[in-house]
Amino acid sequence: MKTITKMFTALGLAVALFAAPAHASGGGQKNAEDYDFSFEGPFGKFDRAQLQRGWQVFKEVCSNCHSLKYIRFRNLTEPGGPELPVEAVKKIAAEYEISGEVNDEGEPITRPGRLSDAIPAPYPNEQAAKAANNNALPPDLSLIVKAREGWYYPWYISPFIKLFKGNGGAEYVRSLIAGYEDPPHGEEKEGLNYNPYFPGHWIAMPPPLAGEDVEYADGTKPTLIQEATDVAAFLAWASMPKMEERKRVGLMTLLYLGVFALLMLMVKKSLWSRVEH
Ligand code: HEC
Repeated sequence: MKTITKMFTALGLAVALFAAPAHASGGGQKNAEDYDFSFEGPFGKFDRAQLQRGWQVFKEVCSNCHSLKYIRFRNLTEPGGPELPVEAVKKIAAEYEISGEVNDEGEPITRPGRLSDAIPAPYPNEQAAKAANNNALPPDLSLIVKAREGWYYPWYISPFIKLFKGNGGAEYVRSLIAGYEDPPHGEEKEGLNYNPYFPGHWIAMPPPLAGEDVEYADGTKPTLIQEATDVAAFLAWASMPKMEERKRVGLMTLLYLGVFALLMLMVKKSLWSRVEH
């Protein structure tokens, strides 16, 4: 074998050995179901209508326990996201009471939310969140899709990684939310629910959705899997609100470099054409 082939083989084996145990050690651990989200791949974009539905599910259900602290109301109106009308989002923001500010006399006040406010958390602090949830902290969901991707890998590697590591990110969230089951052998654990997609299977979050939990503004039928898919897509956007811009700039850069390389090749040819060799 040539040295370069040997190097690639060694690299491939190393990746396989490193990645395989994580997948194999689950003991009944279910791999998240594969699903073709519209935003996958180098040209993938978010589906606006889906993001709007996902936001509806998040707002009406998930936000009762989870915060989304890195997203501001105005982000919901910006290009590349759900792109909701500004006036509608202003109204939604004004429904929330924002505290933590003081008036000119130094007394704490509350005021209606504005576009520039972060989406308010349901609990004032971690202790209150835990106390209301059987001592389990509902994590902030701003980055959950990134956090559950396992590790960072670009799209051209991901098919190989998926072979060993299974599906992560949005696919995990989708399967988790729609994947609650009755525990095997009638087993029960106080305050915990059985979910084969959750590492360890026992999760403190009660099944948040059952189907028919929201009435979609666009008339889509709110089945359990539909709601789970929509909210997973919304959380994927929340984890990477600039994804569409990033992909567009990336493609333009590659195109520019390609044209530039071609020009340089032509310059080189013409410069050296008069030199004998
Ligand atoms: C009744 C409160 C409650 C509601 C409503 C709720 N969750 Fe949770 N969620 C929790 C708690 C508590 C945890 C922590 C579970 C644990 O660590 O065992 C959690 C954990 C999670 C996790 C992390 C799982 C992991 O891999 O660590 C995700 C993702 C999640 N919730 C998504 C959602 C989504 C999406 C919705 C709305 C459809 C939602 N939750 C609604 C309480 C809730």
